[in-house]
Amino acid sequence: MRTLIVANWKMNTKLPDAEVLTNYIINHNEEYSNIDLVLCPPYLWIYKVSEMLNGKKNIFMGSQNLSHETDGASTGEISAEMLSGLVKYSIVGHSERRANFFENVGIINKKIRLALDNKIRPIICIGERQVTVKSKDILMDEIKELLSDVKGEEMHNVVLVYEPVWAISSNDGSKPADGAYVANVIATFRENLTKLFSREVANHTKILYGGSVDAENAEEFLSQPGVDGIMVGSASLKGKEFLKICEIANNK
Ligand code: PGA
Repeated sequence: MRTLIVANWKMNTKLPDAEVLTNYIINHNEEYSNIDLVLCPPYLWIYKVSEMLNGKKNIFMGSQNLSHETDGASTGEISAEMLSGLVKYSIVGHSERRANFFENVGIINKKIRLALDNKIRPIICIGERQVTVKSKDILMDEIKELLSDVKGEEMHNVVLVYEPVWAISSNDGSKPADGAYVANVIATFRENLTKLFSREVANHTKILYGGSVDAENAEEFLSQPGVDGIMVGSASLKGKEFLKICEIANNK
């Protein structure tokens, strides 16, 4: 399986910054041809960045979100149909959307369905707010609910990200998770996928880690068994550091 690196720029960059960052990534493209990259800029820059990426086989466009509605009276929203053809992936269920925009499992389910129906691969974020004895059970229940409307044969278009909320760099007192801990949780994700679908689906579903990944710790996560890639937030905005992460992933 090719390693997948997702760059979540969040609500950062002005258009010239986005162009500089994209150019920097494109110019070093040959150095990381063994991996796939997904760039998720703010909506407004998607068109420009995708124009710049034209022809690059291993760099794909992603959106940070999509609407749970199909069309109509949803001021400020962007539908899956509008994004279809422009992006290959979309992040759904990020903890910042759940916390700040009150997205619950019902809403995220609709987004996953709309993404798949519009040929967009959902990158589904799942992670606990804090570690407790029950957190693994809670995560497994959530996977079951989030994938309740997804068929086994659609799972090759689904990406899961284990992203513990306490590990996201912008959250107070955050720290990256420990590599072995991440491998253990991801192994449990796969056990759950085996129960929900089949062993084959579990083995072939891409599962990433996200939360304070940087050039220093990327190797620790990427070398864990079962970790198929990483989602990078703040470090994806620093061209040199992001490229270092890509280089590490490329040499895995
Ligand atoms: P971070 O963000 O790498 O800055 O922790 C990751 C994310 O929120 O997707």
